[in-house]
Amino acid sequence: MGVPVIELAGVGKSYGPISALRDVSLTVDAGSVTCVLGDNGAGKSTLIKIMSGLHPHSEGTLTVDGTARVFGSPREALDLGIATVYQDLAVAPLMEVWRNFFLGSELTGGRFPFAGLRIKEMRRITDAALRDMGIEIDDIDRPIGTLSGGQRQGVAIARAVHFGARVLILDEPTAALGVKQSGAVLKQIAAARDRGLGVVFITHNPHHAYLVGDHFVVLKLGAAVLDARRAEVTLEELTLQMSGGDELQSLSEELSRPS
Ligand SMILES: Nc1ncnc2c1ncn2[C@@H]1O[C@H](COP(=O)(O)OP(=O)(O)O)[C@@H](O)[C@H]1O
Ligand SMILES: [Mg+2]
Repeated sequence: MGVPVIELAGVGKSYGPISALRDVSLTVDAGSVTCVLGDNGAGKSTLIKIMSGLHPHSEGTLTVDGTARVFGSPREALDLGIATVYQDLAVAPLMEVWRNFFLGSELTGGRFPFAGLRIKEMRRITDAALRDMGIEIDDIDRPIGTLSGGQRQGVAIARAVHFGARVLILDEPTAALGVKQSGAVLKQIAAARDRGLGVVFITHNPHHAYLVGDHFVVLKLGAAVLDARRAEVTLEELTLQMSGGDELQSLSEELSRPS
């Protein structure tokens, strides 16, 4: 196994009186995919907001490279190489693909009339970075809003990899996608892993998780109900956990027709 980049121990988070997360522990290793599964409201987004610096945690410890941290802003996480791609991709839809790729990190120093931007170079680098991650986009001058959801996720992942992320956090990247597009995103997760990144893959789809996951944490009402390495759990067990397990069994009895 790789070296843990992020380690959570006994992490909890309350929003006022609401306890969204309780006593959650997990590690994110370099070159490995940690899947966080759970139903709506399980605390998945809360967990990644803590790791990405959006919300400080209220209990427990978060360490990055062995140093305890309480992030005060997403910038602090990003500076440590922790990049997050959110569910609702916050990209500028009318901007070209390459401009989105370099958004906030534009190469400058070009000459008039290019307004100080090295446009040609940014286009070339974007094209190469997308190709390198196996992302097929016919024209990087297209407004990013005209791409499919899977392609937009791909651009965001390639962007994080290019700008040196060590940890990539993805919040339900396949939730709104069809089978083919989901497959493309799963390939990009594998590509990021193969480049040595630690990936945190949030999903409620056990099949998607099992295709790429090395480590699985299932959350339920803010607590971890399963924490297993790949060798310790089968897809069937994961699926049962995610479909409610015992609850489904009692529901089945309740719904059974009188014979
Ligand atoms: N900003 C917030 N303020 C108050 N409650 C919140 C906030 N964000 C999330 N919650 C609550 O915390 C719990 C976990 O939410 P969330 O982390 O979004 O779950 P998931 O992403 O697994 O659907 C839910 O009960 C949700 O209503
Ligand atoms: Mg969520």
